[in-house]
Amino acid sequence: MTFLHVAAPGYEHHRVPLGIGESAPRLSWTVETDLPGWRQRAYEIELSDGTATGPVESGRSVLVGWPGTELASRERRGARVRVHGQDGSVSDWSPWSWAEAGLLEAADWRAVPAAPPRELLGAPDGPAPLLRRDFTVRGPVDRARLYVTAYGLHETEINGTVVGDEVLAPGWTSYSHRLRYRTHDVTGLLREGGNAVGATLADGWYRGRVGFEGGRTRVYGDRTALIAQLEITYTDGTTDVVATDGSWRCAPGPVTAASLYDGERHDARLLPPGWSRPGFDDASWLPADALPYDPARLVAPAGPPVRRVETLAPAEVTVSPSGRTILDFGQNVSGRLRIRVQGPAGHTVTLRHAEVLQDGELCVRPLRAADATDVYTLRGGGVEEWEPRFTLHGFRYAEVGGWPGAFDPACVQAVVCHTDMERTGWFDSSDGDLNRLHDNVLWSMRGNFVDVPTDCPQRDERLGWTGDIQVFAPTSAFLYGCAGMLASWLADLAAEQAELGTVPVYVPWIQLLFPTEPVAAWGDAAVVVPWTLYERYGEEGLLRTQYPSMKAWVDQCAGRAGDGRLWDTGFQLGDWLDPAAPPDRPFEARTDRALVATACLARSARLLAQAAAVLGEEEDHRRYGGLADQVGAAFEAEYVSPSGRLVGDSQTAYALALQFDLIAGAGRRARAGRRLVELVRESGHRIGTGFVGTPLVCDALVAAGAVDDAYHLLMQRECPSWLYPVTMGATTVWERWDSMLPDGTVNPGDMTSFNHYALGAVADWLHRTVAGLAPAEPGYRRILVRPLPGGGLRHASAAHLTPYGRAEVRWRRAAGRFELEVVVPAGATATVVLPSGPGSRIEVGAGRHRFEDAFRDAADDPVAERPGFFGPPDPQRDGAAGLAVQDA
Ligand code: BGC
Repeated sequence: MTFLHVAAPGYEHHRVPLGIGESAPRLSWTVETDLPGWRQRAYEIELSDGTATGPVESGRSVLVGWPGTELASRERRGARVRVHGQDGSVSDWSPWSWAEAGLLEAADWRAVPAAPPRELLGAPDGPAPLLRRDFTVRGPVDRARLYVTAYGLHETEINGTVVGDEVLAPGWTSYSHRLRYRTHDVTGLLREGGNAVGATLADGWYRGRVGFEGGRTRVYGDRTALIAQLEITYTDGTTDVVATDGSWRCAPGPVTAASLYDGERHDARLLPPGWSRPGFDDASWLPADALPYDPARLVAPAGPPVRRVETLAPAEVTVSPSGRTILDFGQNVSGRLRIRVQGPAGHTVTLRHAEVLQDGELCVRPLRAADATDVYTLRGGGVEEWEPRFTLHGFRYAEVGGWPGAFDPACVQAVVCHTDMERTGWFDSSDGDLNRLHDNVLWSMRGNFVDVPTDCPQRDERLGWTGDIQVFAPTSAFLYGCAGMLASWLADLAAEQAELGTVPVYVPWIQLLFPTEPVAAWGDAAVVVPWTLYERYGEEGLLRTQYPSMKAWVDQCAGRAGDGRLWDTGFQLGDWLDPAAPPDRPFEARTDRALVATACLARSARLLAQAAAVLGEEEDHRRYGGLADQVGAAFEAEYVSPSGRLVGDSQTAYALALQFDLIAGAGRRARAGRRLVELVRESGHRIGTGFVGTPLVCDALVAAGAVDDAYHLLMQRECPSWLYPVTMGATTVWERWDSMLPDGTVNPGDMTSFNHYALGAVADWLHRTVAGLAPAEPGYRRILVRPLPGGGLRHASAAHLTPYGRAEVRWRRAAGRFELEVVVPAGATATVVLPSGPGSRIEVGAGRHRFEDAFRDAADDPVAERPGFFGPPDPQRDGAAGLAVQDA
């Protein structure tokens, strides 16, 4: 009995398409079938307004253009899909899915920012005032929507109930360019007659302290404000709008201080009971000020918000040498604690946080100027539950002070908070430490995808460093559906770039110590991140949107490189934090910074040329292809000897030259590859790369034919290596190879985070090469299955929810045999290359496939000292070395 089902279509990258900002949302669907090799020949879309496309001859099912008239603000429309297979099969109609537009025009906004009067604001990161108003619901309600955002952070309530489940709303965008609002269905919170709406407003990124070396406050303004528009549609079709303006009333609340870095202070005795319920007497409250503003800055979200995603119970409770109660949650996270406590009114409980212990006490030095301390003062008279709302900490350990009575660990939980993305990627192998490394990468992504892709979640920093996401983007796009979140961040990147004249080193930009100069590998995020989202999600539309930003970046860097095409001037961060860099001078890596910059320019020019081809920009395609060639030639002339040795004799220099294709001639490339292998062996198979070389070095070794050395490097447990932190009990990826030194002390450097994803970029290699699941065409329309077994692994597997559905690769080997199982989702195909070599390249379609091959692992044979089994990947053969540009 065969089946052919289409899932209800999804809209853009929305998990819940309510209040979307796209008036013509693109639709995507997946097909499930047991028809072998199924491919779509045509699709039909029907919209709830009667629009019907009829069969459209096309294999596309990912981000397909909206077939109807544009949605108006507030309009709700449904869509369903039916597909026709190349084999003549026809599915039933999918279920309907519905999208609702948000407020698409500036003119839709009646709300103006309602700002608490200045006397209710303290110094930045001070008290969080309340504001409220009553309103009347005239009759039976058909639907009600709250469109809401803030200057600062808000938590909004209607009739005593918190609206939605967002954390740190409205998140962080480049507020001076884009301020995100969210749409909530609040129909169920209203009742006929008297109602009330209220909000707590904290400073957050808007007015609070942000940044290192003292940071800055009031970056975006000195007045926090709520912008809220409640639209009530009655069953008789009439509407009412309750919007923020000068009629709202304000008063101090229980939050006496709230800082993203320092923590929150909450005095429960100060909460005015019933303040967000109707009929509350606010006569003594002060009127809000209505601030002028431009609603054109308000944008709908492209991805999900930050939420409470998981809670953890303490794994262990200990008493430290100094007598303090310390909780170990067993996992380094971003989040905060929730406590349940009972005690006398006015009693205070203090919660401190840290990522590591030293000498049995919280080690807070790595937090630098982030106090990470929450303080709760009890109301008294019963059990009280509390979780701070306007702060976030990076921690595994917490110290509980002042607990009234005997401490019960069941009364404390860690609440993990991050952008609520869909999990899409999994990896497993026969090596427990390798699996833990992968878990650590996953947790570092979770710890740092907090609306903005940040460097770290714990110290006085937490900025959207462009270099970090530049190297981590491929890994993140495998693990979670992050296209929406990153598309929003890229819009900020482009906005900052347009204003500053360059891509800054972090986005959103705040003027701190760094100059606004182009910095290689960091600013390259402008090109690499959109290209990665195209590769991984088939996001051609985003490539189009970001194209001017991509071009402006490459043009600017080419200008820096000048006619000589070598980028060897200006401020550079280089191969940041390679293991040779002194603790206090992370930029003093082994690899010449100008070499890094020129290599990065060559690659970005090449990717831009490929993007131009995808977008049909023929002239640009030629122009930037030519630029890439020139920069590559200049690189060679300057840095590569006639025989293929590099001037910068480092793992990163060779990895860059090989992976960015900067050495002409097979013989010279082979020579460079041999030298990389030598360097890796000379180092005793210890890693020698920083942020720039780390994502490349294993691929470069494979390209050099040295699969065994790549595995040896990967499986190294001595410091510095990927697995060394695992042996030290790490539960996230560290900023430095040795954030914790082998003697258990914390690295003395001023920059020592235990939760930084950049060096975890190797996970992409685990997915693509160890397990063997890689995109060969955009959005995994064609999958390259080319596992390279090694390292003594007995099995490995990966699974990924591609835009076409779930793909799986799993292999195991025993007694010289290699068994491979591949699942290809409907609508996609796969090219399978077995370990015994290119001759075994096999094309397969949708379905489950099994293969067998002969294989012997060098790691099983302790005396074996030989080069790898395979030649370098051949793009013509494998199609995937740098993702082939898809022909239309
Ligand atoms: C951040 C890094 C960042 C670097 C560049 C550090 O403070 O944590 O991840 O990329 O600065 O300067």
